[in-house]
Amino acid sequence: MVSITATAPALALRQVSHWYPARGEALRALDAVELTVADGEFVSLVGPSGCGKSTLLRAAAGLLAPTEGASTVFGRPPAAAAAAHELGLVTQDAGLLPWRTVAANVALPLEIAGGDRRRAVVEELLDRVSLSEFAAYYPRQLSGGMRQRVALARALAHRPRLLLMDEPFGALDEISREDLRLELLRIQERERMSVLFVTHSVREAVLLSDRVVVLSSAPGRVLADIAVDLPRPREERLEATTEFLDCVASVRAALDVGRRR
Ligand SMILES: Nc1ncnc2c1ncn2[C@@H]1O[C@H](COP(=O)(O)OP(=O)(O)O)[C@@H](O)[C@H]1O
Ligand SMILES: [Mg+2]
Repeated sequence: MVSITATAPALALRQVSHWYPARGEALRALDAVELTVADGEFVSLVGPSGCGKSTLLRAAAGLLAPTEGASTVFGRPPAAAAAAHELGLVTQDAGLLPWRTVAANVALPLEIAGGDRRRAVVEELLDRVSLSEFAAYYPRQLSGGMRQRVALARALAHRPRLLLMDEPFGALDEISREDLRLELLRIQERERMSVLFVTHSVREAVLLSDRVVVLSSAPGRVLADIAVDLPRPREERLEATTEFLDCVASVRAALDVGRRR
């Protein structure tokens, strides 16, 4: 029995291993992963392509039952946390419904839950991601960056306590990416949400995070857990400081060790 206490971490993965069925030998994607995200903490996950980052996130979200080990969200199984609207998920592909307007896409989780005051909530969410003017647009009329903003607003609809993000800005050009990064920072710092963020950009990981966790190449194992000791609120000008560059160098060194193995 899992006990629920005020001090339960936002996310805990305990000895999580996962094998995918494959022709011949099963494919091992994760190897005894231990990972904790404390309440209010922003943790990034970096690692070579195919090392199991998306698998780990799906296990954290309860979309996949790991072969071994367990994951808990605020002390309970992910499915229970999701049912209580404690979990939000944003992936690389915004996954919007093309026949719904921006406002109707953002409203979808609230409609499913049957909440009232939907209109006011949607307006506020669109304002938070700077899309108020685009409420009546359809996804095809938006840029990639704007579509990811809509996906973020939709994930925030239930005010989740834990946000899981799988390369959410991966498909964007550098300028949209920088804008969205700062918007996410402002939202997270204001709401003190807990975040687990997958990215292939080491600089992005360091700028956003309290900790950067480095996974080895497949099967993913935790190679390093690096604390980012930079002041908050985080600002882009931090990227020019020695502390920032030192931290980027530590993460890169850990990644290189992982690649050589
Ligand atoms: N549904 C699946 N069935 C079989 N193999 C999969 C499946 N999803 C991922 N894999 C394999 O598991 C490994 C890890 O994948 P993934 O978690 O997507 O890595 P990452 O997100 O770090 O790129 C890869 O070798 C991938 O091919
Ligand atoms: Mg992935």
